[in-house]
Formats: sequence, structure tokens, C-alpha cells
Amino acid sequence: MDLMEKITSLAKRRGFIFPGSEIYGGYQGFWDYGPLGVELKNNIKREWWRSMVYSREDVVGIDAAIIMNPIVWEKSGHLKAFTDPMVECKVCHKRFKADDEVAVKNHEKEHDGKAEWTEAKQFNTLTEVLLGVTEPKEKAYLRGEITQGVFVNFKNVVDSTRVKIPFGIAQIGKAFRNEITPGNFTFRDLEFDQMELEYFVKPDEAESKKIFEFWKETRKNWYIGLGIAEEKLRFRDHEPEKRAHYARYATDIEYNAPFGWSEFEGIHHRGDFDLKNHGLTYRDEVTGEEFIPWVIETSGGVDRAMLFFLIDAYAEDGERVILKLNPKLSPYKVAVFPLLKNKPELVEKAREIYSSLKKNFNTAWDDRGNIGKRYFAQDEIGTPWCVTVDFQSLDDSTVTIRERDTAKQQRVSIDKLTEYFQNELG
Ligand code: GAP
Repeated sequence: MDLMEKITSLAKRRGFIFPGSEIYGGYQGFWDYGPLGVELKNNIKREWWRSMVYSREDVVGIDAAIIMNPIVWEKSGHLKAFTDPMVECKVCHKRFKADDEVAVKNHEKEHDGKAEWTEAKQFNTLTEVLLGVTEPKEKAYLRGEITQGVFVNFKNVVDSTRVKIPFGIAQIGKAFRNEITPGNFTFRDLEFDQMELEYFVKPDEAESKKIFEFWKETRKNWYIGLGIAEEKLRFRDHEPEKRAHYARYATDIEYNAPFGWSEFEGIHHRGDFDLKNHGLTYRDEVTGEEFIPWVIETSGGVDRAMLFFLIDAYAEDGERVILKLNPKLSPYKVAVFPLLKNKPELVEKAREIYSSLKKNFNTAWDDRGNIGKRYFAQDEIGTPWCVTVDFQSLDDSTVTIRERDTAKQQRVSIDKLTEYFQNELG
């Protein structure tokens, strides 16, 4: 099995990620997050929010609607320019992204090299929905980027809070794209979560460039801080012809995935493109000066981040599979075991500890099989610490804590456990 197969299989077997609508054969480009997946995903979002909103004085958050007045997409340029060039196979009418050389070549092989292609046509990737009760129904769109929800609320945020330029508006939420070639597990989906910051600055070339560089570094360091190996990350500047219609310039943070260097997150200098198109300005209360702010954007995908965190954390040690996730991201922080299932006094003590830890940490309980198997099962889902209650615990109120990556054990007093894990988690 190659690494992607191992990750896909682990994700399904242990309840991280399931194919969407699987009992009906799945639905390409859609995925469901299971009991452990939702925890990992929420932890990624929480860490992002903590670093982008709570730890800063100049950023506030919003949560805008997924469906917006269709005028938004006209003004934002998406109806005209949110397109991918697509070619159609004249033999079987399957469609592919024109610039996806690998998919095009693979398809030609299916027809023994005899595939003939139509000219490339522009294909709009906004997902259409029909609303209303009278015919014809009104056509609207599921948002293709969460970003426009920030711009249409720019004035509301300025008027309702005390933000002053430079400041940012952060948001996490669902976006939808009618992708021509979804794939590489959850890397390219039709429905996905984005986590974005729109940072509004004065329209100044040098200053905005400095802020752009600041966010590039800050975002790359965020991934490194959460455990992604630095040598697996790089910046890639977009060539002018590859830039999104709104971008003056753009850099991707890329990850060296098993399927090649791939976009993790985009940092975009959007200039005044969006606010100008929506007819919005900002007035400096002190100088009275009115201007259209420029926007530096950091735009990451939650599903993609989760996939790369899983890939990067995956390790094998003989038979043992270990997800070396940063504990802040781990679905369970602690697992509690009674050494033996059939000794009521051990089970009772372990249940007490379990209930107490659960108040502060997502805690797992396991009393099946032998201790070694329980450790293996927790290693495979990234639980950083296992607590075992043994006979000594009944005498001296201590337990063993076993650490995931080193498999080292130490004895800790039961009444110090919460403090211990709080310290470890920072
Ligand atoms: N607001 C800017 C914007 O949406 P983007 O580069 O098109 O920029 C930003 O998307 C991020 O969203 C990407 O870096 C990626 O992490 C995520 N993303 C985009 N399309 C995706 C898809 N089809 N499936 C999963 N994630 C996607």
C-alpha cells in the first residue's frame, strides 16, 4: 500500500473520514467526517481562530451566509471570471481540466491514445441553486469563496466595532466549487471549509508589500508550529497568467504531498478590487480622509490542512502505526485504562479519573484486550497520553502516564493529572 492508501484506509477504519453518501456508492468530491474527524477538524479551526483572532488586537471575526444575493457574484467578477478551461473527449464526452496534463494523458491511454479533444472552453465553477416557490425559480449560488461575505459586511463591521485601518476580518466556513476533477482524497472537493483573513490596509505599495510578506511568514510558521516539517513547505509565487481575477499578486504555501507539491494555502494581494466593485470606502476618523483600502488575504482550506496534518503525522515503527499529531490537534488528548477489566476496584478508580479528566479534555476510555493493544489503538489515532490505573494506584494514588511518541512511562499523582496535561498542552 502506498502512503495515500494507508491514510485513506486508516481514516475510514478509525472514523476520521468516510466517503460521502457511501451506502449509495459515494458521491464524487464529497466527504463525511466521522467521530474522530470532526474533532481533528474542529481543533484545526479552533487553533486557527486562536492565532488569527484571539491572539490579535486588530482582527475580529464574522460568520456570513453561504447563499448571498446573486448581485454579489456579478460585482465580485466570479460570474465572468471564476472559470477553469475544460476540454471534452470527443469519443466518450468525459470532461477534464485543460491544464491537468496527467488526467488528460491518462484518459488518452484509456482510448489507446486515440482520444480526440474539443477546443478548451471556459467552465464556471460556481455551484448553482434554485430558490423560491414560484416558477421560474430564482437562480442563486453557493459561495465559491467565503471571502465575499466579509466584503459585503465591511461597512457593518466598521460601523459596529472600533476597528481602525489596518485591521482584519476573519471567517471560517463552507465554500463550494463545481470542480471538474476532484480527487487526491480530500485535497480537491466540491464542498470544503475555508479559513480566511481579509486584512485591510492603506493603499500604499511599500506598506502593503510589507504586510503581505508578514502574513506569508506568519501563516507558514503557523503550520510549522503545529508540527508540519519545515522542509515539506515552500512558497510558490503565481505567474501572472495563473493568478485569480482579483489578485494583484499571489503566493501559495505548498506542501510536499505524496502526489507532489500542492497548494496548502493562498496569500493574495487583492488590492482595491473587491471593495471598489462593491462601491465601498473607508473614512479615517482622525484625518477625515476617505479611501478604498487594499486587501491582503490569507486563504487556507480546512479539509486540505487536515489531510496534510494526517499525512505529515503518519509514522510506522514495526507493527505500530503512530499519528504524531501535535497534541493540540489530537482528537483525544488522553485515554484512561484500568489495568484489568475484571477487577472492580481498578475499574472504579479508572472511571473516577476518566470522569474527572473529561471535564477538561476530550478523553477516551478503553478496557478491551491487553494494555499493549490499547496503546497501539490510541497511537494510531494520535492520542498523546495514556493513563493506566494499576494496583499501585490503589495504594499510593499514582498512575502511569505513557507518552505516545517515545512510549516512555512515568508515575504521576492522580491529583496532579489535570495540571500535568494542561501544562503539556500549553
Ligand atoms: N478567497 C480566496 C480563495 O478562495 P483559493 O486559492 O481559490 O483562494 C483558497 O482557495 C484555499 O481554499 C486553497 O488554498 C485550498 O486550501 C482551499 N481550496 C480551494 N479549492 C478547494 C477544493 N476544491 N477542495 C478543497 N480545498 C480547496
